[in-house]
Amino acid sequence: MIKTLHVELNENRYPLFVGAGILNRIGEYLKPCAKSTKALLVTDTFVNHCYAPVVMESLKEAGFNVAIVDIPVGEESKSLEQFARIQDSLVENQLDRGSTLIALGGGVIGDLAGFAAAVYMRGIAYVQIPTTLQAQVDASVGGKTAINHPKGKNLIGAFHQPKLVLIDIETLKTLPHQDLRAGLIEVIKMGVIRDEPLFEMVEENLDAILNLDVEMLIEMIARACANKADIVAKDEKESGLRMVLNYGHTFGHALEALTHYKKYRHGEAVSIGMNCAAKLAVNLEMFSETDFERQRALLNRAKLPLTFPSNLSAEAICDAMSLDKKALGGKLRLILPTRIGEVVIRDDVTDTQIVQAISECY
Ligand SMILES: NC(=O)c1ccc[n+]([C@@H]2O[C@H](COP(=O)([O-])OP(=O)(O)OC[C@H]3O[C@@H](n4cnc5c(N)ncnc54)[C@H](O)[C@@H]3O)[C@@H](O)[C@H]2O)c1
Ligand SMILES: [Zn+2]
Repeated sequence: MIKTLHVELNENRYPLFVGAGILNRIGEYLKPCAKSTKALLVTDTFVNHCYAPVVMESLKEAGFNVAIVDIPVGEESKSLEQFARIQDSLVENQLDRGSTLIALGGGVIGDLAGFAAAVYMRGIAYVQIPTTLQAQVDASVGGKTAINHPKGKNLIGAFHQPKLVLIDIETLKTLPHQDLRAGLIEVIKMGVIRDEPLFEMVEENLDAILNLDVEMLIEMIARACANKADIVAKDEKESGLRMVLNYGHTFGHALEALTHYKKYRHGEAVSIGMNCAAKLAVNLEMFSETDFERQRALLNRAKLPLTFPSNLSAEAICDAMSLDKKALGGKLRLILPTRIGEVVIRDDVTDTQIVQAISECY
């Protein structure tokens, strides 16, 4: 079974394929939308070893002339240095305006290679082949690309939409379980912000999902991507609606920054953040205890963390959250749930209320 979605944006419309064992079809899918047969595959050292051979073979069979850049594994690679390596390879291999860059890997590779494609010759085509659940349900849809600056994550970037996204769920077989669970948070988040049936799908089929049941995963990933595509289509450049995707993330980002991006996977920090945002919403009498408990129970069953570490004070976490505030001209905007399947944007929550909610989440 292969599910095909179409992401609709102003001038761009591109297909997203979700299936099992479809890496070897990349050549066939890319051929009709590529302007030339020159391509560069960007991947990380681990993914290169596991999955690049089948992708390369498929591309070569379809007549593509492909070079590879192998990037060291890890977030540190979202750097100017690795960005420069990709640009060097694009130049050395004489890729031109009609060439295609292919990102094969997790969100790090998608963000880095996407940004390289966004600026080389003022923008060339690129393709996303995400291989982590995090990248499949979140990073690969939406066109946000970026690298990090020593002073902050994703500070240097661009919006650049891919020509196609190919998601092969078979790649999840090699993904460590904890990474699978951390990626699942973005699906649960999508359920809470706008799609109660998706939330229910995860609730009812959690074991099948974690055991990588093929049909279930295809169904769930396609639905999560359709939601993200719909939000992005309505707000491509993040002026309003797209902010709802930040549910749990303002708390989560603060926690990640305070623990120097080492203690938690992104999804784990967001899980704690969602639990706290939901608690805050209960305190503000806009979210029921029953729904709070329903979200808490699902995160708990997925073995995702719910509480802040005792060595960080509620005040310190609240302060770190206000770094987002500076970026938004003085007001901290929080995404808070009103029920499972609906959130609102609030900019009137006080620090006292935030500290109170955090202190109830240890
Ligand atoms: N652009 C966006 O909208 C967006 C959204 C969310 C996250 N992101 C970015 O995504 C990044 C995180 O993505 P990630 O969690 O995929 O991290 P990642 O790319 O670092 O991958 C995590 C680890 O999994 C390994 N890996 C990849 N595929 C594998 C597979 N199939 N089997 C086994 N191991 C595999 C990688 O080698 C790496 O060690 C962050 O940099 C974040 O900023 C971007
Ligand atoms: Zn996230």
